[in-house]
Amino acid sequence: MDSASPDSTSTESPAQPTGETAAFEPPRRGFFVKFLAAFLGMIVGAVPFVTGLLFFLDPLIRRGKATQDGAMNNPDGVEKDEDGFVNLKVAVDALPADGTPQAVKVHDDKVDAWNKFLNVEVGTVWLLRNEQGGVTAFNTVCPHLGCSVDYRQSNDDFYCPCHQSAFDLKGSKLNQIPPRSMDQLKVKVKDGKNVWLKFQNFRGATTEKIPT
Ligand code: FES
Repeated sequence: MDSASPDSTSTESPAQPTGETAAFEPPRRGFFVKFLAAFLGMIVGAVPFVTGLLFFLDPLIRRGKATQDGAMNNPDGVEKDEDGFVNLKVAVDALPADGTPQAVKVHDDKVDAWNKFLNVEVGTVWLLRNEQGGVTAFNTVCPHLGCSVDYRQSNDDFYCPCHQSAFDLKGSKLNQIPPRSMDQLKVKVKDGKNVWLKFQNFRGATTEKIPT
């Protein structure tokens, strides 16, 4: 029998192209559409996440910028140099020439991860002109138990009324009550006249000068 006979009964004849095959979607195009949809979905999902992250990190970003700008650009903050000395805005000439101590309040900017408090009072120091024509500074906190040390004009010394610690004007202790002498602080005199100070507090009731 002729294999090409039109009355063949075979059921496995190949599919014939029809007009409906024009709607068939090629595999590559389908993949692209899915990829695009996933990509757009990812972007839409990321927007609120990134916005929230920026909001959360905003204090840190602003803090970093403030550090880069420096206090000089912040009119409400203290003026501080790269070594941590703050400008006390006290002229050497304004201190008594005879070495009488002068109490001066110290301000600084308090910064943590989320807050910045400008020009906060952090302590008080005794400033006095020294024999070299410079300035000596002592923290007014008593090294005994933390009361405030006064200048006692009648004795021309420093005196703590809480337990009667006494110190001379060089800060050396004059009796056995305090465990150490007064805490002297580092001072710079800039431009020959302005007093800058590195303020620190120290632990009380110890013979060692340990910063807190
Ligand atoms: S706290 Fe100053 S003498 Fe005790």
